[in-house]
Amino acid sequence: MANQELIAHLNEILKHEWTGVAQYSQASFIVEGVWREVYADKFIGDAKESFGHAQLIGNKIVALGGVPVATRNEIKQSRDLFEVLQFSLEFEAKAVEMYEKALELAEGNRALVVFLEDILNDEQEGVDEYTKLLRDTSTASAANSARKSG
Ligand SMILES: [Fe+2]
Repeated sequence: MANQELIAHLNEILKHEWTGVAQYSQASFIVEGVWREVYADKFIGDAKESFGHAQLIGNKIVALGGVPVATRNEIKQSRDLFEVLQFSLEFEAKAVEMYEKALELAEGNRALVVFLEDILNDEQEGVDEYTKLLRDTSTASAANSARKSG
């Protein structure tokens, strides 16, 4: 019975990872202007990370006796790079929250805990990275507006 709750939650995670595949791929496709040079690759890299996590979670769900979902949630997209970075931070923060909950459900299963902790670590790195990117962007735009008004 406890397994059912865990499998259901892992399926919510899988949906989130499939959302990441689509959301980051879309961000990579539509980014234009000079920042395309940097962010098209960055976002495709994040889409691939989500796909890697989806593979791990999908295989684990089957190992636990469940059936993986093949659906995703709505994606968030924008032509404004700053907004895309905010969506990305939100996405990664939600992933951290979801893996932390999975870890609570996995308590007592050491191997599963280690498996989930590895992925959680990737998600936290995502949060850290987007937090820093957003900090730089706001500093740069603050500097720009200061320059314009001064
Ligand atoms: Fe992920």
